[in-house]
Amino acid sequence: MVKVTIDGVETTVPEGTTILNAARQIGGDLVPPAMCYYSSLKDSGGKCRVCLVKVSQVSVKDPRPMPKLVASCRTTVMDGMVVQNLTSPEVLAARKGVVEFLLLNHPLDCPICDQAGECDLQNLAYQHGASTTRYEEGRRTFEKIDIGDKIKLHMTRCILCYRCTMVANQLTPGRVHGVLNRGDASEISTYIEKAVDNEFSGNMIDVCPVGALTDKTFRFKSRVWFTNPMDAHRDCPKCCGKVVLWTKGEDVLRVTARKDAYGEVKEYICNECRYDHKNIKDWTVEGPRHIEHDSVISQNHYEYLDMQKLKKEIDRQIIFQKGKQLPESASQ
Ligand code: SF4
Ligand code: FES
Repeated sequence: MVKVTIDGVETTVPEGTTILNAARQIGGDLVPPAMCYYSSLKDSGGKCRVCLVKVSQVSVKDPRPMPKLVASCRTTVMDGMVVQNLTSPEVLAARKGVVEFLLLNHPLDCPICDQAGECDLQNLAYQHGASTTRYEEGRRTFEKIDIGDKIKLHMTRCILCYRCTMVANQLTPGRVHGVLNRGDASEISTYIEKAVDNEFSGNMIDVCPVGALTDKTFRFKSRVWFTNPMDAHRDCPKCCGKVVLWTKGEDVLRVTARKDAYGEVKEYICNECRYDHKNIKDWTVEGPRHIEHDSVISQNHYEYLDMQKLKKEIDRQIIFQKGKQLPESASQ
């Protein structure tokens, strides 16, 4: 085990842990953002640079700072390492620059994008981006294309994080898409006319941090913040069968895997669960979903619609008000 201090908070982690995962172990605001790293995808990370941090002391044995900012998802901790994230103005300035780069070719189509409200880039731009753009050149443009019968690719929104190619490599039997060309000509595409069509391909939609890959069965049906996310499960012979149903009344508009506080899928689901069971009767509904990830959806606290919790909350308020001896009119 080794000791590491991040933004003044000390923690102990197993040797070989990355700075990002050490920060996640502490939790809270000091955790660097991540757009390409994905804990369940082997070799992910190192592409987007939003997780840059400053190492102001390498280790107990070598107290010198690292000469440049480092990607926290790819740099492992050493005993006595001291790391600065939010406490370093240099890191904040660099992150602002990285966000500006990520947005160079990204269209401002949040008002019509299905990912709005649960988009990592949107959140990142709010937290670390500049309020205006300095970019005057023309942006890259692409036709929207179908990659498979259920997935639509908007290449203009892609930030080339490679997560979807890793899902295809690691979760499905054969990858038929990838990053073609180099530099500013790079693009995600399928190999000549091939369609992404296999039992776990829908997970590419869930891991895409932006709205580049969208679910064709959900496109333009609703803004996510107008839906009620519900935890549900079914006996599935192919996957864990544990999902989130995005409902509106009795209608199931979308089925996705469940995500953790960092927006990462906890357990991948199969395409049958995702696309072929849009009838609520096919599912055992467990109750309102607690959205752990930072998202506008979590602002609505649907979970309080759970009547037992609601009753407890009302009881708590009554006790609180009695304790404060508020006049009766004020407690209504
Ligand atoms: S399509 Fe999405 S998941 Fe794939 S590389 Fe682009 S941004 Fe990443
Ligand atoms: S999350 Fe570390 S480089 Fe992208």
